[in-house]
Amino acid sequence: MNNKLIKPKVAVMGVLQDAVKNAIEERFTFVEMERSEPFAEKEMISNLQGFDAVLCEPLDSVSPIIMDSCPSLRMVSNRAVGFDNISIAEASKRGILVCNTPGVLDDATADLAFALLLACSRRICEADRYIRQGKWQGFQSNLMLGPDLQGKTCGIIGMGRIGKAFAKRAIAFGLDIIYTRHSKPDMLDKELERDMGAKRVEMVELLSSSDFISIHCPLNRATKSLIGKKELSCMKETAILINTSRGAVIDQLALLRHLEAKKIFAAGLDVFEDEPNVPSEFFCLDNVVLTPHIGSACFQTRQNISMTAAQAIIDAFSGHKPKHLLNDEAFEQFLDSVKVKA
Ligand code: GLV
Repeated sequence: MNNKLIKPKVAVMGVLQDAVKNAIEERFTFVEMERSEPFAEKEMISNLQGFDAVLCEPLDSVSPIIMDSCPSLRMVSNRAVGFDNISIAEASKRGILVCNTPGVLDDATADLAFALLLACSRRICEADRYIRQGKWQGFQSNLMLGPDLQGKTCGIIGMGRIGKAFAKRAIAFGLDIIYTRHSKPDMLDKELERDMGAKRVEMVELLSSSDFISIHCPLNRATKSLIGKKELSCMKETAILINTSRGAVIDQLALLRHLEAKKIFAAGLDVFEDEPNVPSEFFCLDNVVLTPHIGSACFQTRQNISMTAAQAIIDAFSGHKPKHLLNDEAFEQFLDSVKVKA
């Protein structure tokens, strides 16, 4: 039998934009699986039976058990830049390709992070609630005051693509940039210093001298609970903390207690430890702005993300190494298993 005549089957978690459907329908059979909350592992296993590839999203965990229980699965293409929902090492052992979508959502995510910073500093959500609750009595010179931005220091944790996009916005608002990043010092630091006046510092300095802190690092073993009670207590009482990366980078309970005790000015959170569950104690706090993981939620950006993830599947099943392949080491085994030699 000629394998090239059989259309590989793609499970699409969520829905696809029409342009992306058009791009894949000639080459693949696909099924969209809408869900209002994450599928449990068992449901994932039954839903993925017989599929060659899955186009998934950050809420879809693709565990080793799922990989073992879905023997036809050859590729996981994540419609996201973060890939903490997939074990790369386990996928590699099984010859399953894993791809992500870097580069297409930097601006959208940086925009949201900056919007959260402004929402926190200018107390926009609190002010909106104030009017809706009929509390406004008229102009008052001391109503809803917040910190000025101009001349303040902004600390960026994780100076990758999104961190840099955030830094550009911060500079335009008159902020000075300090940052941490995981890799060893290199040319990039010189460039950041030259182009943005950004200074690389140790984490403890960033925490204690930043007026505003925005987190842009990936979630992995090294960054899980990176910001806990100790780190929070290093921050200024006037600090604002923004997180648009992954919830588990912050010890959520420690942050909650810190905000309740008003030990920092505010936090803006787009991501949570156990999405979509958000501890209800946050809801009573005026010093936190909450958004439901919408960092990349712009029309064109979301389409670009889907197209990038879909292109990876098109490339792989045509025998070409996808541009954003996260596990090169699995490619040969993948090619053997789908019997499409380049
Ligand atoms: C979204 O959370 C992403 O990682 O792209």
